[in-house]
Amino acid sequence: MPALTFLGHAAFTVDLTRATLAIDPFLTGNPSAKLKPEGLRADYVLLTHGHPDHLGDGIEIAKRNKATIIAPFELATYCEGQGASIHPMHIGGAHDFPFGRVKLTIAVHGSGYPSEQGMLYMGNPCGFLIIADGKTVYHAGDTGIFYDMKLIGEMNRIDLALLPIGGNFTMDIDDAVKAAEFLKPGLAVPMHYNTFDIITTNPEDFVKKAEARGVRARVVEVGERFTV
Ligand code: NI
Ligand code: MN
Repeated sequence: MPALTFLGHAAFTVDLTRATLAIDPFLTGNPSAKLKPEGLRADYVLLTHGHPDHLGDGIEIAKRNKATIIAPFELATYCEGQGASIHPMHIGGAHDFPFGRVKLTIAVHGSGYPSEQGMLYMGNPCGFLIIADGKTVYHAGDTGIFYDMKLIGEMNRIDLALLPIGGNFTMDIDDAVKAAEFLKPGLAVPMHYNTFDIITTNPEDFVKKAEARGVRARVVEVGERFTV
């Protein structure tokens, strides 16, 4: 049974029978994070896109743990150039890893990394479907709502959907509730809110509105561990 820990913003660890995954481990400079990157142990680091609040400490964590970064090709290749081990993938593609299956989904967003040399190109952003230990977890990444979420829901029996709700850069609560209706997950958990003033919102409103539409939802506190 996968056990997840919410690390703040869009960052999670997923403990599986055969591996621990870290998704979008943005800890340094994340005002909502309680964990330091040195405290994170992972076998794989999954990165949805190149924005600093997702790439975060991913490269450093991957190198220290001798973990493999799973990311869209352009972002993965950048990480390899920084000395990390990678497994590049791309949208619509799936791969069977020793711990389970990962499939990359579309995400309607950007993926550039702002550097001193200007904006570095990191390809397209993605979401992740993780099928492992008999469960399916969908991490939407940063995205606006898109109608193909209905297709993702039709083609996968999603046990847990991690959905951004903070607005401005991603879906807001009302869009995320509609997304949850499309995806029909066993449980919807909000993310990507309240880290910065610009994405301030009340996650309990998401829970109320999702449950009113027949989707079970709950707020997970930073540092909380929960099972799927
Ligand atoms: Ni982003
Ligand atoms: Mn973001």
